[in-house]
Amino acid sequence: MSYKITDKVTWVGKIDWELESFHGEEYSTHKGTSYNSYLIKDEKTVLIDTVWEPFSKEFITNLKKEVDLTTIDYIVLNHAEIDHSGAMLELMREIPNTPIYCTKNGVKSLKGHYHQDWNFIEVKTGDTLDIGKNKLVFVEARMLHWPDSMFVYLTGENILFSNDAFGQHYASEMMFNDEVDQTELYNEAIKYYANILTPFSKFVVKKIEEVVSFNLPVDMICPSHGIIWRENPLQIVNYYMDWAKDYQENQITIIYDTMWKGTRRMAEAIAEGIKSVDQAVEIKLHHSGKHDKNDIITDVFKSKMVVFGSPTINKGIASSLPLIFEMMKGLEFKNKKGAAFGTYGWSGESVKVINQELEKAGLTVVNEGIKALWNPDEEALEKCREFGKTLADC
Ligand code: FEO
Repeated sequence: MSYKITDKVTWVGKIDWELESFHGEEYSTHKGTSYNSYLIKDEKTVLIDTVWEPFSKEFITNLKKEVDLTTIDYIVLNHAEIDHSGAMLELMREIPNTPIYCTKNGVKSLKGHYHQDWNFIEVKTGDTLDIGKNKLVFVEARMLHWPDSMFVYLTGENILFSNDAFGQHYASEMMFNDEVDQTELYNEAIKYYANILTPFSKFVVKKIEEVVSFNLPVDMICPSHGIIWRENPLQIVNYYMDWAKDYQENQITIIYDTMWKGTRRMAEAIAEGIKSVDQAVEIKLHHSGKHDKNDIITDVFKSKMVVFGSPTINKGIASSLPLIFEMMKGLEFKNKKGAAFGTYGWSGESVKVINQELEKAGLTVVNEGIKALWNPDEEALEKCREFGKTLADC
């Protein structure tokens, strides 16, 4: 299968409708994904990126329907991660001497993964490659999201091939942003940013400012996952600039685990308290043991405050919460407040442990938190409502 993107550019990737998780089990893909590879036919023929290894044979078979492989003049690998370079062994068996354009770090990564001494051509920002009527302009995009990441811009067609940046794990037979459900697209794009790109936000801002300074016209942004930004393509660039600057909405997320529903009842009472003094704030509740971890993280990303609750279990907290804390520490969220609550029977350490974890994750803990002994009665729940009111005022 292939899709014509412009007269010169054809999509030759793989749509993976079945994928349920990405990066091993680190990232849930409720909507599948795609591995976007692009074929440019000018006076020279260029292949940009490939697909994940399990689809390599299928990729080569389909690519042969589009082009005689021996006529591919250049391969551009914007990023060495396996979901984009996975068909290289299969491809290079067919065309072993074809030059591969990538960054210096790309060479290191590719050699590290495939242990092959292919015909690498290192490029850096500003280098160009004439391919006939048009040319390719290379732009290193270090840490977006790996050290080797790179963009390549096609003059004439005014297309930015951005690899992972601006992508979404979103399988669709509709190739362009103006053809798909806008809410689905936005939700997958922000989830992707929140769960993958957040720690690299300062690189995002610098890179976007640098690319904008080149004054290149952009008619299309072709990422390596999901749909292509054709209608108002810079909208996703503007979103990235917002998301990269300690993004938050008027949202408070309450994340809890619960054994006998006592901590859950506390969570709901705290939500009532917040809502009673701030009708405008959006409140989301997540059971950390039941809800998808990446959806939870996306809500953390959107939140100005995150409130965690757990019963005390074995002097600690429920086992589902450390997973969320670990993800938050790695993602390095900034400018967020936190608070803690939980039920207990005797020793009652959970609130203290949560506060420690919140601090380690870089959140500002706004108070000591609130505990309820055994199953909270109406008086205890009323204290939770009052606690919620104080959070709304923080
Ligand atoms: Fe889509 Fe970093 O690989």
